Amino acid sequence: MKKLIDDLYKYNNLEDDKLLELLKVMDKEDIAYLKSKALDTRKLYYGDKVYLRGLIEFTNYCSKNCIYCGIQSGNKYAKRYRLTLEQILKCCEIGYSLGYRTFVLQGGEDKYYTDEKIVEIIYEIKNKYPDCAITLSIGEKSYDSYKRYFEAGADRYLLRHETADKDLFESIHPRASFENRMNCLKNLKEIGYQVGAGFMIGLPNQTYEHYVKDLRFLKEFDPHMIGVGPFIPHKDTLLKDEKAGSLELTTILLAIIRLLLPKVLLPATTALGTIDPMGREEALKAGANVVMPNLSPIDVREKYSLYDGKICTGDEAAECRMCIENRIKKTGFTLDSSRGDHVMYNKELALGGLYESNTKS
Ligand code: 5AD
Ligand code: FES
Repeated sequence: MKKLIDDLYKYNNLEDDKLLELLKVMDKEDIAYLKSKALDTRKLYYGDKVYLRGLIEFTNYCSKNCIYCGIQSGNKYAKRYRLTLEQILKCCEIGYSLGYRTFVLQGGEDKYYTDEKIVEIIYEIKNKYPDCAITLSIGEKSYDSYKRYFEAGADRYLLRHETADKDLFESIHPRASFENRMNCLKNLKEIGYQVGAGFMIGLPNQTYEHYVKDLRFLKEFDPHMIGVGPFIPHKDTLLKDEKAGSLELTTILLAIIRLLLPKVLLPATTALGTIDPMGREEALKAGANVVMPNLSPIDVREKYSLYDGKICTGDEAAECRMCIENRIKKTGFTLDSSRGDHVMYNKELALGGLYESNTKS
């Protein structure tokens, strides 16, 4: 096993059958070694920095029916909300004063927000905060829509592929097409966004073979950001009685992703913090280098309920920023609230920074 991990560290690649072997037979010691190599690799490019992104969940209306998700259109128990432009700008104002220089606008696929409205939101934010990056996470759109948002000033786009297996994808996304999801990702990259893909871990019927497909897809697609987190059941969905994904498998996959794509921006997700109180810390120790504190108004946070038990929605929400910042520091990392672009977009790092001066031994 150690030899496989060393090869993965050295070449940032490994054949599919060997990735499968890693997933199937690593013992505790191997896993610790894998994670230590992932940590070394993240340090090479990003040092001890953990990038902070301010997350604004601006609508929980959604026209899709992804069977795992609590805000799917068919959930009649979901209490729906939309934020106005003014409310969104208020979130940015608070975030900006806290030092955040990236805002992630996330929402369901909500037709109320026409392209004109999205463009207006981007313009307004960029006009007020020209030094900030905007990340959109609003689902599948046409090439033209993606292009309009980009031209309006959006910098990055998160669209998880969810699973790289067509059959599994289509079994959890009624009437949606795997090819369209893949095409959207391709279009986003072609337009020039920093693109985020990613998948869930622990879905019913998901196997190690599926994860190897995800890893291969990610290695080939080479996104700038990768969001991975455990599946967690939501009480109003078909999958309500299924088991959640595990912390251990999620952190193993994070570590492998760090080794396959050394420069990728890799968040320690809220879902991981939800299944385990130390989930995000464990992710950081396995190679993750991004955290996305919630900037949504406190009264709507509970309504953006993709899965049950989501953290940072209750009484603790007001203290959320202090909480997460302290957690990151306690784990031995330093906070960085700058734009935090991918190293290929970040001139400071790419020219003579950590990136050039560090070499692998
Ligand atoms: N459990 C975990 N993650 C979920 N997501 C949606 N529903 C769930 C759930 N029940 C994830 C999807 C989506 C992202 C915004 O949240 O991967 O892309
Ligand atoms: Fe939100 Fe701890 S990170 S309450």
